[in-house]
Amino acid sequence: MWTTSYDQGSSVEENGMLTSSSELWLWEMSRDIRLYRLVVVVFVLLTVLCTLCTLYIPLKNALQPNPSSSTISKDCHFILTPGNCMLPFPCDNLFSQNNSSTCSIVAGANKGNGPKLPRFRFRQGWDADWLTQLDFGEGFSRLSPIVFSLENLNPADLVDYDHVHLSLEDNSTTILIDATTGERAAHFYSSSHFFDALDPFAAVAMHPAQPLIEGHRYIFGVRNVRNRKNPSMLAPIPKGFQIIRDNQTADNSGLGSLFHHFGYAQWQEIYHRDIFPVLNRHGFAPLQLLLAWQFTVKSKNATLHSANIIRSTLHSLFSSTNNESVQVELDDVREFKCKPISKNRGWFRKIHGQVSNVPLFLEQDRPGTKLSHPLRQTGTTVVPFTVLLPCSLSQTAGTQATMLLQYGHGLMGSQGEAQSDYLERMANEYNLVVWAVDWRGMSQYDIPCVFKMLLMEPDHFAMIPHNVLQGFVDATVVLWKVFLSNAFREWDAMHIDDTPVLPSFASIDGNSFSIGYYGNSQGGILGAALIAFSPFYVSGVLGVGGAPYSLLISQSIDAIPYIRALQVELSSRDLPLYASWIQQWWDIGEPTGWLSTLIDEEKYVLLHVAIQDRQVPIAGGEVLGRGLNATLMGPKGRVVFGLPKEKTTWLSPHSQMVEWSVATEADFAPHECVRRARKQIIQSMEFLFSRGYVFQICPSDCRLSQCT
Ligand SMILES: *[C@@H]1O[C@H](CO)[C@@H](O)[C@H](O)[C@H]1NC(C)=O
Ligand SMILES: *[C@@H]1O[C@H](CO)[C@@H](O)[C@H](O)[C@H]1NC(C)=O
Ligand SMILES: *[C@@H]1O[C@H](CO)[C@@H](O)[C@H](O)[C@H]1NC(C)=O
Ligand SMILES: *[C@@H]1O[C@H](CO)[C@@H](O)[C@H](O)[C@H]1NC(C)=O
Ligand SMILES: *[C@@H]1O[C@H](CO)[C@@H](O)[C@H](O)[C@H]1NC(C)=O
Ligand SMILES: *[C@@H]1O[C@H](CO)[C@@H](O)[C@H](O)[C@H]1NC(C)=O
Ligand SMILES: *[C@@H]1O[C@H](CO)[C@@H](O)[C@H](O)[C@H]1NC(C)=O
Repeated sequence: MWTTSYDQGSSVEENGMLTSSSELWLWEMSRDIRLYRLVVVVFVLLTVLCTLCTLYIPLKNALQPNPSSSTISKDCHFILTPGNCMLPFPCDNLFSQNNSSTCSIVAGANKGNGPKLPRFRFRQGWDADWLTQLDFGEGFSRLSPIVFSLENLNPADLVDYDHVHLSLEDNSTTILIDATTGERAAHFYSSSHFFDALDPFAAVAMHPAQPLIEGHRYIFGVRNVRNRKNPSMLAPIPKGFQIIRDNQTADNSGLGSLFHHFGYAQWQEIYHRDIFPVLNRHGFAPLQLLLAWQFTVKSKNATLHSANIIRSTLHSLFSSTNNESVQVELDDVREFKCKPISKNRGWFRKIHGQVSNVPLFLEQDRPGTKLSHPLRQTGTTVVPFTVLLPCSLSQTAGTQATMLLQYGHGLMGSQGEAQSDYLERMANEYNLVVWAVDWRGMSQYDIPCVFKMLLMEPDHFAMIPHNVLQGFVDATVVLWKVFLSNAFREWDAMHIDDTPVLPSFASIDGNSFSIGYYGNSQGGILGAALIAFSPFYVSGVLGVGGAPYSLLISQSIDAIPYIRALQVELSSRDLPLYASWIQQWWDIGEPTGWLSTLIDEEKYVLLHVAIQDRQVPIAGGEVLGRGLNATLMGPKGRVVFGLPKEKTTWLSPHSQMVEWSVATEADFAPHECVRRARKQIIQSMEFLFSRGYVFQICPSDCRLSQCT
């Protein structure tokens, strides 16, 4: 995670070009040490808390048994799922159509510990300030995990990812129907970190195999799921659903006055009119159903509402006359000795600088805050950046750069990752100028805040996507102000022996010079959103990316520490619901909210994934691939549901997904291997230079036994 190591530690600095840098480096070092100490403290705290929890939770459960199946309160969802009365989620409440709330969760109105929200162990309740921005009136995320629970349900009866096509078959136990078109949608159960088989009321999450269509209404139905304690029986039907399905009356339902409180007479009408007939047409007879409900998917405009305000503010800044207020400052320029032409020639020059007066949309300029509400520019911020010149530019006189490549770093990393060995080789081979900024919201500087939030205030989750959105602003303004300005080419630091490193600025957008984006892991995930957000990018390469985050965290081995932190406040039973809730916030700060922008604006993405990846699981990569309308290139014979195979020749730009099969004996883990593979690099560079043309790099086989 700590990518501050310098590959060329042994190299000698030349001082000619240095600004007053030694103090700055000392300061940076002390900042790193302080940060390191903070992380150690957080880690120790986390360990202590986890230890306490492993003692405390079973104790608490023993003293205070889980709510029994008979607990029904006025605040429950009308389905009355035993032991988990907030479910199912996401779900429309057609009743309150005049009230822009769904599932009876009225954000803000439900101050404090509303029973419809996951309950915390220690924290008092959900902070209303952080809920106000979550308006379900417009619908839910296109990739919301669909969460439900039946007492003792057997997850083995649900369609898993390897058999996702079976979710469209006649004998499927679950069904997802687009009620607007009448078509079925593929979905799958992800056996995840979240399912606790010992809890009879544990919830499960089904994931759409591809993003649902914006603005459409969907119906979900469940049948024939067995009881895992007693496989000869089906899981029991929740009381509320039974009342609706079987038209029970106030008298024979046994619910007494609650029958009217929940308005079952109206639900019976709605279900028998709008929901059961649709399910029946697809072979799901009402009497077989154990559960069914409907939900609406948010429109593109509703999802991107705040992002669009930000984009238009930036747009005005870029064209306004006071755009000069944004300032660039170079802090440090260092040169290094190059190695002779060999595999690792190294970086010739590393430039650190900062852009100030970048518009800020967060309430405060520090990690852990949320977007201002109502959304507006609240001030300005300073964004540090790194520029790296490879040795190839200095070793042969007159060599000019071919591309300005932005690199997006991995999980909770920093811009220092741009100095990695594989990028350095790429940069030397292709004469790339590489630059990077930190992903605000998900960089090493955010780690303390993220853990504090997960441990103590999970209701403040929106801080991650909100800061990431500000991170898109940071990266976009730096690209505009530094790299797309005429002044950049004139910098001394961008000259080698009086010759500019960059070809004449006019040829950007011409054929001799281009700008590109490349990111790995988190950089390959957030990159999809950045390319859509940025007015300057038309294409980009995403290494080992995937979406949505709610699916990735339920499977990724990298997510385990974060989930452990969450388990201090949340019971395992509530984790799937929490994951689906936070996806609603997360859309604008990850690919999900931006997929239709990429398609509508004809921006193309090349996505490289590893089939054996355990950090960004292949299911997430393929959901993203489908959301990009990509075609598939992969090992011989590999067929992936919903991803058409590549053609032999491509005559137009498009999005492409390339799946690599990495051998177990390869010198790196699959997640690390793909970025180092030569074939991948050749294809990616071709894609970036041509802005979207894919050249067939593994005609017979996309297999890697060596990561070079
Ligand atoms: C919706 O509004 C109508 C009148 O505008 C009212 O009669 C009805 O009770 C409202 N429904 C709910 C659930 O608030
Ligand atoms: C919506 O519901 C909330 C709380 O139930 C209520 O305060 C508000 O007045 C309602 N709004 C409308 C437009 O009916
Ligand atoms: C459903 O049908 C498919 C073939 O159409 C079969 O492979 C699968 O095992 C069946 N599943 C169940 C649960 O019967
Ligand atoms: C149940 O009630 C609804 C109206 O409330 C009616 O349309 C439907 O036909 C009834 N179904 C059965 C099976 O009685
Ligand atoms: C979505 O927003 C765009 C621009 O803000 C607007 O032109 C368009 O009409 C909106 N679409 C809908 C369906 O509201
Ligand atoms: C600032 O805006 C003016 C137009 O008002 C434009 O000509 C100029 O290129 C802009 N500056 C930058 C750095 O984009
Ligand atoms: C997806 O790509 C196919 C070609 O591969 C094209 O026919 C189709 O229109 C595309 N869909 C969208 C939504 O762009």
